[in-house]
Amino acid sequence: MPCAVVKKIRRLSYSPNPDRHRGNNIKQHEKLCINPIKPIIKMKQILHILSSASGQASVSIQLGNAIVEKIMQTYPGSVVKKRNLLESELPHLAENHVISFFTPPENRTPQDLEAIIHSDEVIREVKEADIIVIGAPMYNFCIHSNLKAWIDHLVRVGLTFRYDDKGNQIALIEGKKVYLALTSGAVYSEGPMRPADHVEPYLKTILGFIGLTDITSIRVEGLAIPGIKATALQKAIGSICIS
Ligand SMILES: Cc1cc2nc3c(=O)[nH]c(=O)nc-3n(C[C@H](O)[C@H](O)[C@H](O)COP(=O)(O)O)c2cc1C
Repeated sequence: MPCAVVKKIRRLSYSPNPDRHRGNNIKQHEKLCINPIKPIIKMKQILHILSSASGQASVSIQLGNAIVEKIMQTYPGSVVKKRNLLESELPHLAENHVISFFTPPENRTPQDLEAIIHSDEVIREVKEADIIVIGAPMYNFCIHSNLKAWIDHLVRVGLTFRYDDKGNQIALIEGKKVYLALTSGAVYSEGPMRPADHVEPYLKTILGFIGLTDITSIRVEGLAIPGIKATALQKAIGSICIS
């Protein structure tokens, strides 16, 4: 459904003043086949992941913030948890993590438990969130290594995915919405550079592997191309549609 129609339906359905549904609004509701009973807007738990090495100048952080702002407008009272992967670095995957991941919980030593503290926290944050906004700038055709480290702590057998008796992989996360705030110097959504995009296809594959399948990408691309940079961010912000 086009964003404008979604927004119109939401405006009519979620009006804080039920009297506004009388007269013209009732007719508009009927036209749109919407039940005029006022639904309850549920506040959401939002997790915002930041992975830019550009600090204050970061475009993906500005884009991510704009997405969060629009979510807040749609779901007033929502709570935002930020995890800046450049300010507070997760350890890159090492032997102690892998050993602990594959040790049954009842057999874990204090060292094993220490090794999975970060992974437990990352998984808890994702499980607690209703909506996850992931800022993912492109670096050398891929994601930042700190975002990769976050993924390595998140994708964990027994907690975010498992295998059944026949060896089929089963995702263990469900019911969450993900927005990807993608930024790049060149253009990858179309044209000759498209096959070189190892950001969006990778993120969709790995997030889908654990059950995060409802993903919307918003791109600010072509930032290295003269004439595009000035307007690209505003255009992308204008295209954000929260469902
Ligand atoms: C080290 C480095 C590597 C980059 N590699 C690429 C690349 O492979 N492809 C590309 O299109 N842009 C590349 N860029 C440009 C960034 O994707 C672009 O500047 C984007 O705005 C970064 O997002 P940010 O502003 O949130 O940090 C690179 C930038 C840096 C600093």
